[in-house]
Amino acid sequence: MRILVTGACGFIGSHLVEKLVKQNYNVKAFTFYNARGSNGWLDNVDKKIINDLEIVSGDVRDQEFVLNNSKKIDIVFHLAALIGIPYSYHASKSYIDTNINGTYNILNAAKINNISKTIITSTSEVYGTAQTVPITEKHRLNAQSPYAASKIGADQLAISFNRSFGLPVTIIRPFNTFGPRQSARAIIPSIITQINNNKNLIKVGNLNPTRDFTYVEDTANAYLTTIKNKNISGETINLGNNFEVSIKNILKILKEDFGYKFDVVIDKNRVRAKNSEVNRLFASNSKAKKILKWKPEHGGLKGFKKGLEKTINWFSDPKNLKFYNSDIYSI
Ligand SMILES: NC(=O)c1ccc[n+]([C@@H]2O[C@H](COP(=O)([O-])OP(=O)(O)OC[C@H]3O[C@@H](n4cnc5c(N)ncnc54)[C@H](O)[C@@H]3O)[C@@H](O)[C@H]2O)c1
Repeated sequence: MRILVTGACGFIGSHLVEKLVKQNYNVKAFTFYNARGSNGWLDNVDKKIINDLEIVSGDVRDQEFVLNNSKKIDIVFHLAALIGIPYSYHASKSYIDTNINGTYNILNAAKINNISKTIITSTSEVYGTAQTVPITEKHRLNAQSPYAASKIGADQLAISFNRSFGLPVTIIRPFNTFGPRQSARAIIPSIITQINNNKNLIKVGNLNPTRDFTYVEDTANAYLTTIKNKNISGETINLGNNFEVSIKNILKILKEDFGYKFDVVIDKNRVRAKNSEVNRLFASNSKAKKILKWKPEHGGLKGFKKGLEKTINWFSDPKNLKFYNSDIYSI
């Protein structure tokens, strides 16, 4: 079984690649080409794993490259995307190019190359602020940012390829994921790195929104469950914890459970425009439990704190932080 992972250089993709290789899958890792020869977070992965991989560097926007590199592949895990919401306000067209056209290239290549399973990665941002909770896969879609709109576009293309051409495609829809290697621009790493840099005053955006966080190992495990599953063609499946926590409460946990001392200041640059802020994300994971037989190991408040501890430990190890001082990870 040969598996292609796009976005292998990224946060979730690098964890997924590690797990696939450890389980002896034959993996082709698709990283984003750059002139420095960097493979992003794969550069942080054990060399033994890297030696067991084929790495190709390219761009998902390049149709020919995607087509050529998905020959003799059984499963595609498509994770490559532009993911930063703030950047999507300033460079919306890039999100259309990478997230929609890039996904089109993956789907079209899967169709031409007869790939037996294509897993497209969506996001909980496609739901916008929850209208009903917990959010099931039937919740209405409502883009509150160009990023969300681009992911809805990609998802709809995937569904249309399933309906029109019978392409065996599945949409995995993660809610917020956290853990080692996440961009320091994401909320949890942003707070931890500010604390680690001895900042007594932590800059944050809006304190009130709630999110449903999944620890990255759990997210990667869910992808693994799709490999042998024969009942997921045409399905959209949420990945979440079924546990919501506000940003305010994360700060409280860091003070009360981890003993950090700091004050908080609202940085208006980090506050989204009123109608763009997604105030509440709280996942139903019933479908993932039922169809994928997946259950997060870091579940509920206790599991969230366990994941937080692992994340803090990772971000506190100076050898990991050198990756954050370079321009490799700059979206
Ligand atoms: N992190 C989260 O909380 C979260 C939540 C929901 C969904 N997702 C989705 O999961 C996927 C992975 O996200 P992540 O958090 O690991 O982000 P990430 O930015 O770490 O990974 C995305 C990777 O895609 C690569 N990429 C960007 N443009 C590319 C291009 N044109 N060609 C090839 N590669 C390109 C980037 O270099 C990066 O390594 C994305 O599709 C994202 O939308 C993430």
